[in-house]
Amino acid sequence: MDSANPNPILSLGPFQGITDAPFRNVFRQHFKGVDKYYTPFFTGIQKDHAKNLQTEEIDPAYNDICTLTPQILSTDAAEILRFAHQCKARGYKAINLNMGCPFPRVANKKRGSGLLPYPEKVAVLFEKVFESIDVDFSVKCRLGYFNADEIYPILDIFNRYPLSELIIHPRIGKQLYKGEADVEAFKRLMPLVKTHLVYNGDIVSKGSFATISQAVQPVDEFMLGRGLLANPLLAEDIKGIVNERNRTERLHEYVVALYEDRLHHAGGSPKVLGRMKELWSYLMNSFEEPQTVWRRIKKLNALKEYEDAVEDIFKEIPVML
Ligand SMILES: Cc1cc2nc3c(=O)[nH]c(=O)nc-3n(C[C@H](O)[C@H](O)[C@H](O)COP(=O)(O)O)c2cc1C
Repeated sequence: MDSANPNPILSLGPFQGITDAPFRNVFRQHFKGVDKYYTPFFTGIQKDHAKNLQTEEIDPAYNDICTLTPQILSTDAAEILRFAHQCKARGYKAINLNMGCPFPRVANKKRGSGLLPYPEKVAVLFEKVFESIDVDFSVKCRLGYFNADEIYPILDIFNRYPLSELIIHPRIGKQLYKGEADVEAFKRLMPLVKTHLVYNGDIVSKGSFATISQAVQPVDEFMLGRGLLANPLLAEDIKGIVNERNRTERLHEYVVALYEDRLHHAGGSPKVLGRMKELWSYLMNSFEEPQTVWRRIKKLNALKEYEDAVEDIFKEIPVML
């Protein structure tokens, strides 16, 4: 089936522990097709000079501020406004609020998707934020936390304010990442959303993009997640961007470049292996024998062992891209 939209806007969803600034920069150098990026969520912005704001994560010297939106996980209007102010001072035009994180340690505190069952709290929060926010404000959310009807009163609140975009991942928080994204539920929401709507969930191939984009017409913007981590060529494939170079070689070069960049930033510390393993837990799906790939990678704790394993994997196990 042909995709409904030959020229969609594509973004890379944020992944805590994977899609940090080094990842985004190396990814952009190696692959085309991704128009927008989001930082993994920030928390704990208790002061203007909070430590995590001083890192390269939103430093304009190290990021493309035109294509990057910083994300915050918070239910505190003062904190959100402080974050917005700090982002604006660095040149960013927008921030994104995370109302989708499903992890119990977050959701149990009524944060992330855990805020969705509490429209009265959301109403108070949005009233305070929109009193003085002076950058674009977008939201990423799920259908609910306990059930998929929770979104309806929340949409009523969103519709009172000039949100710059709304990204909906049609699962509920309790599901975590299990089951399937509910495209039908997303479709039911489409006529109710007043701002620019973005679809996110389960786009893993050109085929699944074609099916989903057809179903949610005329939505023109899609956030890619695990599908793009597994296959970094996915955005190029969806957009029909032709590159004559060998796909396995491109994948290999990217994995090595990301590792070297991380290693450089970490001053040679084996800590980088944690983040590389996180990526491999998705990337393995692009190889013919994912479990063999994962078994070789997951236990490694020494840099040299990791480097040798990566070379062996690319020599011995065919890539299926
Ligand atoms: C380990 C992990 C970390 C994530 N971190 C974030 C995050 O910081 N902010 C966010 O909005 N979404 C986060 N997500 C959600 C993804 O951005 C995306 O919405 C989700 O994977 C659904 O899209 P997909 O089905 O295309 O993968 C995370 C997901 C995973 C699995």
